[in-house]
Amino acid sequence: MQLTAPRYPLSSFPTPLHRLERFETAFEDSPKLWIKRDDQTTLAFGGNKTRKLEFLLADARAAGADTVITTGGPQSNHCRLTAAASAHMGMACHVVLGGEEGEVPNGNALLDWLCGAVMHYVQPENRNARMASLSDELKEEGRKPYIVPLGGSNGLGAVGYALAMKELRDQFSGDWNDIDAIIVATSSGGTQAGLTIGARAFGFEGKILGLSIDQAADQVASYQSEMAGIANESAKIFGLEESFDERDFHLNDDYLGGGYGVLGSVEKEATMLLAQHEGIFVGPVYTGRAVAGLIDLIRKGKFTSEHTVLFWHTGGAPALFAYAKELRDMN
Ligand SMILES: Cc1ncc(COP(=O)(O)O)c(C=O)c1O
Repeated sequence: MQLTAPRYPLSSFPTPLHRLERFETAFEDSPKLWIKRDDQTTLAFGGNKTRKLEFLLADARAAGADTVITTGGPQSNHCRLTAAASAHMGMACHVVLGGEEGEVPNGNALLDWLCGAVMHYVQPENRNARMASLSDELKEEGRKPYIVPLGGSNGLGAVGYALAMKELRDQFSGDWNDIDAIIVATSSGGTQAGLTIGARAFGFEGKILGLSIDQAADQVASYQSEMAGIANESAKIFGLEESFDERDFHLNDDYLGGGYGVLGSVEKEATMLLAQHEGIFVGPVYTGRAVAGLIDLIRKGKFTSEHTVLFWHTGGAPALFAYAKELRDMN
């Protein structure tokens, strides 16, 4: 393997790795639970996008860009981290947010604004078109824009997660192949694609199980081939002579709840259970849903005391503040 892509440091690594011993006591026949704290990457309240942006924004800089454009939902963690990383690297940032502007910016939107990002609100289906038109407008003004795709999920971004598997291998005390499953929240797919490449590259034999956050069952087949596409592109950049197809991606889409960004009682229960046993916060959109899925799998006996399971915490807690009312009012 020979990685040639440039990397710009945006966090100190490794992120913490530890057991969830108090959380385990919440279940009758709990597996050994570990957590990888990518919510603790050191830039701007942390999260999984940091690892992707180290490669994406290094590429932007190498291409001579002075302005970064990206997109996400109104409470996008990815946009917050892109805004923060752009500020840190001295580039301007435009975020195209699919949804309504709140009366007062809150949660991630507040942080985007504080980082100086120019915020554009559009209908979700118009996000890519708006990024393209914005890019043209900025070029006309003499700027050099660079578009980071939704979630930073392309081959280059996924390289960050391929390398994260090496970090886990080096950090895990004992044999990392004692881990039966790594559970991760999956949306635009780059994180899972990267972890899957890293597993192949560094010899992890457990299962990498993505809990789908927002893609319905009938989309799953194409979803998995989409991840295979990202993985194949990424493997090339990573210098790994392997190819991937949809069978390499394990995805559970049982926990889509009320749809993207809709907080339900299971996400609320998961958020409070983890906070009240460990003092660890998950976010309302991604990781709250993924922990809810993990809890359900444990309660159904899919994971038992015979197993070791690692939850890869991808961040997202800053969005909690924008959900204060829903959290308080929901049963
Ligand atoms: C906190 C959090 N977890 C998980 C994900 C999903 O990662 P990916 O888009 O790489 O599938 C996201 C994506 O925005 C996120 O913000």
